[in-house]
Amino acid sequence: MLKILYTHAEMFAARAAMQGTIGFVPTMGFLHQGHLSLVRKALDENDHAIVSIFVNPTQFGPAEDLSKYPRDLERDLAMISELGNVLVWIPDAKEMYPDNFQTWVEVESLTKPLEGEMRPGHFRGVTTVVAKLFNAVQPSKAYFGQKDFQQAAVIGQMARDLSYPTKIVVCPTMREADGLAMSSRNSYLNPQERAAAPVLWQALQAAVEAYAKGERDARVLVSDIENRINHEPLAKIQYVRCSDALTLADVEGDLRGPAVISLAVFFGATRLIDNISLG
Ligand code: PAF
Repeated sequence: MLKILYTHAEMFAARAAMQGTIGFVPTMGFLHQGHLSLVRKALDENDHAIVSIFVNPTQFGPAEDLSKYPRDLERDLAMISELGNVLVWIPDAKEMYPDNFQTWVEVESLTKPLEGEMRPGHFRGVTTVVAKLFNAVQPSKAYFGQKDFQQAAVIGQMARDLSYPTKIVVCPTMREADGLAMSSRNSYLNPQERAAAPVLWQALQAAVEAYAKGERDARVLVSDIENRINHEPLAKIQYVRCSDALTLADVEGDLRGPAVISLAVFFGATRLIDNISLG
């Protein structure tokens, strides 16, 4: 059964009446199996599960089309209701950003490379909205997908720095049968682009195999991924980077500790991201 709330006042009152642990899944809606796997885990591991649905305007850049972000609230609610008793909070933009809003949450060095470099201001929007959501929901655990690994790292840092008593749980990327990472943005792909997009996973998997066979030169792993993706005419690479898994600093020589190779690639106007962990 679903309970649907809209305002902060409703959320605060509902939260005050709840006892036990709370598992929280913040989303921007247009849910897919990846989101649902997070909600299932929140239900399994906690006394209550709360899902928020809010397309957060402040994490979109001026050139990114917020108004075209896919939305289907009715379908989202139907999908969540099949999972069990979930409280769904659906604030609107006025509720989250009232007139004269002027307070922001910003994580420093972890937000500089990768997505932060390509999407200036993106993480400031993410951390500000997630902090506001955490303040109202007061979750015991909050669930995020590994596909947005930098987002999960940034939110983990924010939670530690601001002393949120919330455990950040990072869950594996859910994939389509052909390996494409599930994403609300996959719905933008035309049939040709959709058929081409699994090249990202194939290229990342080839790097995992090379790593397993002993390849430790980050430049070799990255350039092999770039070559494979460049063979696909519909794919336009924005970046492929190998980063230290903890600091997210670029690794350009030998891999000595845990690392992540991440990428952002355009198929037409659609920008897809994916990543793999090494070591
Ligand atoms: O990953 C997302 O869907 C969003 O960035 C989040 C965490 C819900 C914040 O708007």
